[in-house]
Amino acid sequence: MSDPREDPVTFYDAVGGEETFVRLVRRFYEGVAADPVLRPLYPEEDLGPAEERLRLFLIQYWGGPRTYNELRGHPRLRMRHMPFRVGARERDHWLAHMRAAIDDLALPAALERRLWEYMVYAAHSMVNVADDT
Ligand code: HEM
Repeated sequence: MSDPREDPVTFYDAVGGEETFVRLVRRFYEGVAADPVLRPLYPEEDLGPAEERLRLFLIQYWGGPRTYNELRGHPRLRMRHMPFRVGARERDHWLAHMRAAIDDLALPAALERRLWEYMVYAAHSMVNVADDT
């Protein structure tokens, strides 16, 4: 997988900047809010702060402003997910909502593929229980 920091034009800019990530993550969390497998994992009643954290992380990852690190420090995402049970089932639900959210963006095919491949890779790396494959 190529490193977004080496892109001549950032992926963040190529897909439309902040607005695109606002739409992506909003749509994703609409799915989470209605998902009986995923919704109970989120400790807060209000999903707004979780939505903001994911949005800021993705913006930073893809070459946009580094606000995530300013607010949250180094991502260490696998560690931050340890308190939550993430099995194959949770991963696949997470990816299904992300797929729907990416589809809604209607990006050019090459950009869409790159975004999706990253999400698949990242979601697989977040799995922290092996008992329900
Ligand atoms: C936080 C679930 C995959 C990025 C969280 C939280 C939960 C969760 C329950 C805590 C909510 C909160 O922020 O208060 C899951 C599940 C996944 C998954 C079930 C299934 C595989 C991913 C992936 C990414 C990601 C693939 C990145 C591409 C984040 C970020 C936070 C977060 C940035 C906030 C971390 C922080 O600053 O505290 N996730 N997640 N998650 N997740 Fe995930």
